[in-house]
Amino acid sequence: HYKIEQDLRRSILINAALCVAGFFLTQRMIPVASRYVSKRGLFGFDINKKGTPQGDVKVPESLGIVVGIVFLVLAILFQYFNFKADSNWLVEYNAALASICFMILLGFVDDVLDVPWRVKLLLPSIAALPLLMAYAGHTTVIIPKPLVSYVGQEVLDLGWVYKLYMGLLAVFCTNSINIHAGLNGLEAGQTVVIASAIVIHNLMQIGASSDPEYKQAHAFSIYLVQPLLATSLALLSYNWYPSSVFVGDTYTYFAGMTMAVVGILGHYSETLLIFFLPQVLNFLLSLPQLSGYVKCPRHRLPRFNPETGLLTGTRDGTLINFYLRIVGPKSEKSLCIHLLFVQALGCCFCFMLRYFLAGWYK
Ligand code: UD1
Ligand code: MG
Repeated sequence: HYKIEQDLRRSILINAALCVAGFFLTQRMIPVASRYVSKRGLFGFDINKKGTPQGDVKVPESLGIVVGIVFLVLAILFQYFNFKADSNWLVEYNAALASICFMILLGFVDDVLDVPWRVKLLLPSIAALPLLMAYAGHTTVIIPKPLVSYVGQEVLDLGWVYKLYMGLLAVFCTNSINIHAGLNGLEAGQTVVIASAIVIHNLMQIGASSDPEYKQAHAFSIYLVQPLLATSLALLSYNWYPSSVFVGDTYTYFAGMTMAVVGILGHYSETLLIFFLPQVLNFLLSLPQLSGYVKCPRHRLPRFNPETGLLTGTRDGTLINFYLRIVGPKSEKSLCIHLLFVQALGCCFCFMLRYFLAGWYK
């Protein structure tokens, strides 16, 4: 036991050291890449600054491509230093990387070609294929104790339905981050908050469990989430208000896919979904527009008033607008901080819920 703990700790620390290097590398690369993407016409206008001098500046788009590339390099190099991996895990680790890589490619394609909204929704299900096909882990769910008498058994094997669930989770995580967006710093910021919560959750689970396989599942999650966190922080330093770069769908898809993949391989997707609580709410509010029942404009953002410099909520069904209509007009920066705070509160709620419901599971 002690040996396993020691090996895991060593792997996690090496991974953390790689991430520190990854952070600085990403920070160095973003300004360089910014010049290249702008030269190729990949830029956007900052919508919430329309009518101000800042609003006419072309902001380089899709800098998520730098984050994605550095992330992949870190994750691939790390395999060399991971001492506790058996071959089964390595297969899944590489399948996870293939899915993330495929997602980065499709996200970048979307940024360059601007594919129609309905097609966009489905891209993650294509990117998830490598993982779904290679997945050899269990396809069972543990039934909460109060429900065991109704279901008749303690574990339920879902078979292919479980794989369908994995695919849907990937579609949800990617798109839900992408549509909770449009404020400087929000896309990268929400990822930083959720990824931090995931790392804390993983560390707590490793500490609390005595099952080596369970510990390893959570350690593997850390190996992928730490690089996500480090590279996202570097991106956030440029994307924070006032943004000097935009993240692009390359980033939102990549971040969502990475978190979906670790939730699946770490077997804590229910916890992950509670970390995504604001995204779930935003998704529910968006359903009428996403389904086409109500007209969905290209951008569903608040209205910016150049005189006051404040944002006011519009009728579009998003959490951003909903929140603004409750608390009243806010500046872009403080609104983003508020929403990130709400995200963090949701994560705290999740930890509390897990604590109180612990007795429901084995
Ligand atoms: C999603 C949202 C859309 C939102 C957009 C903002 C849905 C169905 N789609 O679309 O409502 O407006 O994200 O990213 O909910 N931009 C800013 N400030 C920012 C970030 C982005 O003005 O802080 C603008 C820029 O013009 C940028 C563009 O949004 O070029 C990027 O939009 P994109 O990510 O392609 O939009 P979608 O993901 O399709
Ligand atoms: Mg987007």
